Amino acid sequence: MKYNFDEKINRAGTESVKYDLRDKVFGNPDVIPMWVADMDFRTPDFVREAVINRAKYDVYGYTFREDAYFEAIANWIRRRHQWEVKTEWMTYTPGVVAAFNMAVMGLTKEGDEVIIQPPVYPPFFHAVESHNRKLVLNNLIDTDDGFVMDYELLEKQAKTAKMLILSNPHNPVGRCWTREELQKLGDICMKNNVLVFSDEIHCDLVLPGFKHVPFASICKEFEQHSLTAHAASKTFNLAGMATSTIIIPNDKLRKKYVDFVDSTEINLGNIFGKIATKTAMEQGEEWLQQLLQYIKGNVDYVVDYINKELPKIRVHRSQATYMLWLDFSAYNLDNESLNHKMIFEAGLGLNNGKEFGKVGEQCLRINLACPRSVVKEAMRRMKKVFG
Ligand SMILES: Cc1ncc(COP(=O)(O)O)c(C=O)c1O
Repeated sequence: MKYNFDEKINRAGTESVKYDLRDKVFGNPDVIPMWVADMDFRTPDFVREAVINRAKYDVYGYTFREDAYFEAIANWIRRRHQWEVKTEWMTYTPGVVAAFNMAVMGLTKEGDEVIIQPPVYPPFFHAVESHNRKLVLNNLIDTDDGFVMDYELLEKQAKTAKMLILSNPHNPVGRCWTREELQKLGDICMKNNVLVFSDEIHCDLVLPGFKHVPFASICKEFEQHSLTAHAASKTFNLAGMATSTIIIPNDKLRKKYVDFVDSTEINLGNIFGKIATKTAMEQGEEWLQQLLQYIKGNVDYVVDYINKELPKIRVHRSQATYMLWLDFSAYNLDNESLNHKMIFEAGLGLNNGKEFGKVGEQCLRINLACPRSVVKEAMRRMKKVFG
C-alpha cells in the first residue's frame, strides 16, 4: 500500500469532538473513541497541500465557488457512480445536516409528515421534529440476510407523507441499497407524491464488492422529484471543513430550495472547504481505493472476531460506511447498563444505539475508521467484558 493507514495519529488536544469531548459525552476521558463519524487516518497529503498552499496566501477574503469546482464534483459522480449530473443542478450548503434541515423547512409545511427509516442517523429525527413536522417511522427490518426496508408499511405511510429522508447508503446499518430496493422505494414515493431527500454522504465509502446507486440516477421521474446530498467530508476526512453539495435536477424545486437557503444567509461557504473538496474530487481515486481496502479489512476482522469469540452479539457485515451496527439484545441488558459496561468496564466509547431510534436501545454503533491495532485492542477489551 502506498498510503499508511496503520499509523496512529495523536488527535487529542486538537479540539477534536471525537477525542476532546470524551469526558463530557461518556464521563470517562480514557475510552478508546469509536463513535463520531470521522476517521483517525490522516487527511490525504494532496488535500492538505492544496489547503496549506492557499493558507499561505496573504488574504482570506470572500470567495465564490467557480465553475471548475462544480465540474470536479460532477466528473467524480459521473465517473464513480455513472450519474450524468449537470453542474447547473448543483448548489451548496455548509453541511449535509444543514441541507436536509433546509429542505424540511423550505419544502414542507408545519405539520407535514416526513418519513425516516430507523435505526438511522440521529439528526434525521431532529430535522423533522425541531421544525414542527410530524415524524413517521418506517423502521428497517432486521433479517438473517441483513436489514431491509418495510415496503408494506411504507405504502401506507406514503399516502399522507410529504417527504422521505433516505440514507443511501445507510448509516448506521451499513446497507448499500440495491437498484431494485431503491426502485421499489421510489415507485411508492412517486405514486404518492412524496419528495425524496437522498443523503448520499457515504456513497463513496462503498466497500469492495458493492456498488452505489444514486437514487436520482434510476430514472427521470426520480431525478425530477428528489434532492441528493453529496460531500467529500466523510470519504476524505474533511468533516471540519463543513462543505457539501446538493444536487437538484428539477428547476422549480431547485429554485425553491435555493431561495429558502438564500433567505437564511447561511451559504457563504468557506475557502478551505472548497479547495479541499475540489482537490479530493480531482485527485482522490487511488487514495480512496486503498482506504476502502483497509476499512474492509477492519470490518472483516471485527465481524469474523465477533462471530467466533462473541457470538451473542448480532452483526451484519457492512457493505458501506466505516460503521458496524452491533446488536446486544441477547445479553438482556437495558440501554443504560449496556452503555455503562462498554464505557467503564471495556473502556470503549461507542455510539449509544438509542440515539438512532427506539429500535436501537440494545444496540451500539462502532466506528472502524482507525488503525487495525486499535480495532484489535477494542475487540480484546470487548471480549473481556462481553465474552
Ligand atoms: C447520513 C449522514 N448524513 C450527514 C452527516 C453529516 O453531514 P455534515 O457533516 O455534512 O453536516 C453524517 C455524519 O455522520 C451522516 O452519517
